[in-house]
Amino acid sequence: MKERIVSGMRPTGKLHLGHYLGVIQNWVELQHKYDSFFFVADWHALTTKYDKTESLRDDVIDVAIDWLASGIDPEISTVYVQSMVPEIAELNVYLGMITPQNWVERDPCLKDMVKILRTKDGQDSQMSYGLLGYPVLMSADIMMMNATHVPVGIDQVAHIEITRDIARRFNHIYKEEFFNEPKPLLNHCSLICGLDGNKMGKSFQNDIKISDTEEVTAKKIMTAITDRSRLRKTDLGHPDECEVAFKYWEIFGTKEQIEKVRFECEKGERGCADCKRQLGALINEKFAPIREKRRYYENHIDEVKDILNEGSKKARIEAQKILTEVRRLVKMY
Ligand code: TRP
Repeated sequence: MKERIVSGMRPTGKLHLGHYLGVIQNWVELQHKYDSFFFVADWHALTTKYDKTESLRDDVIDVAIDWLASGIDPEISTVYVQSMVPEIAELNVYLGMITPQNWVERDPCLKDMVKILRTKDGQDSQMSYGLLGYPVLMSADIMMMNATHVPVGIDQVAHIEITRDIARRFNHIYKEEFFNEPKPLLNHCSLICGLDGNKMGKSFQNDIKISDTEEVTAKKIMTAITDRSRLRKTDLGHPDECEVAFKYWEIFGTKEQIEKVRFECEKGERGCADCKRQLGALINEKFAPIREKRRYYENHIDEVKDILNEGSKKARIEAQKILTEVRRLVKMY
């Protein structure tokens, strides 16, 4: 039997290249090797944005479109929406009961989120009961399918540790080796920084979206930071001190392209503006097929909704199997 992966993303709206390179590309490969479940975590969105839900439904669709356009294949993988699998909420109840309070309180990922919340909303933003339960709900997502592995970024590993602890504790308390202790599957791609050299993020306005047009992409790339010490084209360049543009070349270019850029830059034969024009063209070329597929789905939203409905149905069937066993173990009627 194939090993199983579960992974999810919060519906933050249209995704950027950081999501693509850091997460989605990895999923697209893994789906051929593992029995794969990918879901949009709309309940998790509520942990911080419970009062800003106007665009939530559209955001769920946008995330799904980006996945499908990027190559997540609903014929191979189960693609679903968290809130359309209510079994997860029931499992969340059982897991909540057996999770010691201090396990969630010391979750470092959560501490970071609270810090961000505080700086965004000011003094009076409090941690809700739901937000405190973030790692428990995430464990329910993963254990709902009894996953063996969870492909995530390094920032999520502490959460997976809690999931492993909860799974072990459940098995111990209910005296059966029922749940797997899921392992994180880290991807080894290089992290892409934002156009300003900081972490790429929607709220920092330094991102390039999968859904950006070629014109917008080209324009954005022209704002990418380069070698700050370089003023004229003929100044000798330092690719290793080029804060953004050369790093992008290293991610998207072929070996030959990267060598050529380095050589010409160091010799003062390549201006930064020209260099970024070429870089924009390269990125546009790479994303052209994905963007074309994206446009198709944008014009066939009903097809996307069908995929999510079908996927959620499939996910529910798996979830119900697990939940029946969980109810038996916990001694529910
Ligand atoms: N916490 C994850 C994030 O912010 C999203 C997520 C929710 C998730 N549930 C999950 C990831 C289960 C993997 C498995 O990106």
